[in-house]
Amino acid sequence: MASNSFGTHFRITTWGESHGLAVGCVLDGCPPGIPISDDEINQVLLQRAPGRAFVSERKEEDRVEILSGLFDGMTTGAPILLLIKNKDHDSSKYEAMKALYRPGHANFTYLQKYGVFDHRGGGRASARETAARVAAGAIAKKFLKALGIEIVGYIQAIGTVTATSIDFTHRDKSPIFCPDIAAEASMLDLITKVKELGDSVGGVVACQVAGVMAGLGDPMYDKIQARLAYAMLSLPAAKGFEIGEGYHAACMHGSEHNDGFIQKEGKTQAATNHAGGVLGGITTGEPIFFTVAFKPTSSIFKTQKTVDFEGNEVDFSLPAGSRHDPCVAIRAVPVVEAMCALVLMDAVLHNQTLMPCK
Ligand SMILES: Cc1cc2nc3c(=O)[nH]c(=O)nc-3n(C[C@H](O)[C@H](O)[C@H](O)COP(=O)(O)O)c2cc1C
Repeated sequence: MASNSFGTHFRITTWGESHGLAVGCVLDGCPPGIPISDDEINQVLLQRAPGRAFVSERKEEDRVEILSGLFDGMTTGAPILLLIKNKDHDSSKYEAMKALYRPGHANFTYLQKYGVFDHRGGGRASARETAARVAAGAIAKKFLKALGIEIVGYIQAIGTVTATSIDFTHRDKSPIFCPDIAAEASMLDLITKVKELGDSVGGVVACQVAGVMAGLGDPMYDKIQARLAYAMLSLPAAKGFEIGEGYHAACMHGSEHNDGFIQKEGKTQAATNHAGGVLGGITTGEPIFFTVAFKPTSSIFKTQKTVDFEGNEVDFSLPAGSRHDPCVAIRAVPVVEAMCALVLMDAVLHNQTLMPCK
């Protein structure tokens, strides 16, 4: 199975299955001298971990062990191995779906391609893999923070309920990373209702990057929005990516969409930010703003029609006690932040290689 690596200069290779011994990644290209500890990474991992209200009831501790690449609490420049043990998995719940095609999940395509599928928890297709991305992203975030770059993801919508006011203080307290206290109440109601019905619901994660310098990204195939889209659409259940006005730009006039330039405090800057912080594939220095749409969780308790591996039509529903997210977008928030950090870290390190010839 190819394509387990992401990034060029700051490169992760993830490994592990949902119900295997552990998941993790090897991180290559990390600059030396970044102070980091497993405790710091664990704090970030906690935000993604299942076992909180409104997400999957699987109670993973999600504790990382850093096996290499650190000395005296600092990165050394050597490869970093991040290991997260799988502890609270129950493979018995997956026996019932061992020999049938799961609607909306990945076993049909894996079987077409590889002829073998680890059905326990979805194997490699499980979003458990994203824990490794979050762990590596925590190191990237630390590096970017020292440069003044802050990445904040939040829930913009769950189903048709949309956050309209943005209060980041509330987002930090919200069990679903929602920055709008009024919308949050309706979102929680909706999640509770779909859960009672044995169903699931989709959602949109928004991400804002403040303090980003102008000049990240390369103008042709490595446009910063292309790298971000690639990163975000590599996430399980991701179905859409928009930057700045996104699809809404198609409904606007140039006179509305153009961000006019102004001179402010001795600096030329844009008066508005419909572009989402990118022009010509390169960051403008304005905040980057993008959104990622996640489909409703495919694992639902409602009865669905499918076929087994012999081609017989069967009615299928999840066994009682199975643990799944009613809305994957919620736990995707820290994962979106992590992937954004990996993209920006890579772009910063890439710029350091662009030295003029003497
Ligand atoms: C953070 C996160 C948590 C997820 N949790 C679940 C889950 O509990 N149950 C499930 O069926 N899918 C879950 N998914 C989605 C599946 O992993 C995904 O739908 C599956 O691998 C098929 O891939 P695709 O939807 O990208 O086509 C989750 C996705 C993310 C990002």
